Amino acid sequence: MGILRKIFGKDTTTDVLEILEAQHREVDELIELIEKGEGDRRALFTELANNLAAHATVEEKVFYPAIMAKETNDMLQESVEEHLAIRRLLADLITMKLDADGFKAKLHVLKEQVDHHAHKEEEDELFPKVRSMFSSDERAAIGNELLVMFHELMQAQPYKNVPSETAAAAELAPPTRR
Ligand SMILES: [Fe+2]
Ligand SMILES: [Fe+2]
Repeated sequence: MGILRKIFGKDTTTDVLEILEAQHREVDELIELIEKGEGDRRALFTELANNLAAHATVEEKVFYPAIMAKETNDMLQESVEEHLAIRRLLADLITMKLDADGFKAKLHVLKEQVDHHAHKEEEDELFPKVRSMFSSDERAAIGNELLVMFHELMQAQPYKNVPSETAAAAELAPPTRR
């Protein structure tokens, strides 16, 4: 039994693919709320920026190295480039006034890029490959590690690091498994 299963209860999955899909949904919902103008915009945007920043970082530091293989290499190289493009939009948004004219347009472009990257590239193409390459125990082990880092990052306002992470795409670490 994984440590997070003990903390969060036995029904909590730590399958890395389910965790990442849940994080994608959280990001989608936050963008939707901000676009609709519901709730405290500033608080929602900070929450969105923190979630996106931490999500991209745990994918680059834990998930991608864990699943790096001949079959996934090209997709992962493309993924870190897409993360860079998303971080650049996010860095711009972080410096803008929430009621500025360009904010809405830029947020919408962010939404389109997140949609393409998270749903089309990751969920539709990469995740089915990962599901066939790794057992559920292996996916749970990767998920455990990823959740620990995600929760650590989220305690330190990870959005603040985004502007300094926009010069170049993340270097992918060598494979950590297989
Ligand atoms: Fe990603
Ligand atoms: Fe993702």
